[in-house]
Amino acid sequence: MRRIFLIGFVSMLALTACQSSTDETQQAKENASKNTTITQKENRSEDDSNQDQDHSDESQQDENQEQTKKENELNEENNESEQPNGNEDSDSDEQTPKQEDSNQEESSDSNAEVVDNPTSVEVVVNKQRKLPDGYTPPDLTVPQVPFYFDEFHQKKQMRGVAASALEELFEGAEQAGIDLVAASGYRAYERQEVIFASNVDKHGEEHARQFSAVPGHSEHQTGLAMDVTVAKLSFQLSQDLGDMKEGEWLAENAHNYGFVIRYPEGKTHITGYEYEPWHLRYIGKDVATKVYNQDVTLEEFYNMVP
Ligand code: DAL
Ligand code: ZN
Repeated sequence: MRRIFLIGFVSMLALTACQSSTDETQQAKENASKNTTITQKENRSEDDSNQDQDHSDESQQDENQEQTKKENELNEENNESEQPNGNEDSDSDEQTPKQEDSNQEESSDSNAEVVDNPTSVEVVVNKQRKLPDGYTPPDLTVPQVPFYFDEFHQKKQMRGVAASALEELFEGAEQAGIDLVAASGYRAYERQEVIFASNVDKHGEEHARQFSAVPGHSEHQTGLAMDVTVAKLSFQLSQDLGDMKEGEWLAENAHNYGFVIRYPEGKTHITGYEYEPWHLRYIGKDVATKVYNQDVTLEEFYNMVP
């Protein structure tokens, strides 16, 4: 009798856990679908809390809550890393990213120049140019655009002027039938430190430096960059975006809103980074339009080619 009672009790617990997992995943799916069509109103004063990530994989429904959370964290870290096709399958044959050789001399951090205009929207940060120690952008805010997650996180933020421009870009995209989703904007130095170290652990330093900036050298720390993705890519940062209508729309239209595709295909020898069709950098309409028309990188535009 006691045994039957025990079995019954354990079964009830299992059912409850399963239901809770299914509910959470269902909620994440609803959010994902909502995120692709609706502009969300964010609470700008929310705490920096952990976030759940939307999953499009049906099989996730049967996994327990703990497993789902673990995967969310992994996915979050990979999305943040900007590893091309960064997800848990990134080592599979199907997802080998296109890589270009970088002829750039890797500058050691001690040789890097410290920029004297970190708050300028035209600041150029790259492997040779870093932000001053302790730099934090002055006016971070959350753009009112769809993100792939609901909760507040520092990476939802951008400088005010960039956030407004991103809102306009998303509106223009929507009018053109292009559903974009924001993934990752501002990163504090300390956060970039964690991400870069994790990429070095996973890929070795030489490979990590091809797609991930050394702390102090990331445009994400300026608050002027935002990585964007689409639901069709399961919200991953993938070079495939460049061949999709959304990536093509971005490449052809971002300058009208003041953004450039900062790490274009075929320019690795200049930028030092692999192709990132997802990385939008706000620089103002005037410069962005000139950069677009001249088909150059910021390094070329400002005569800073290393
Ligand atoms: N993925 C870009 C280069 C960064 O880490 O800032
Ligand atoms: Zn980026």
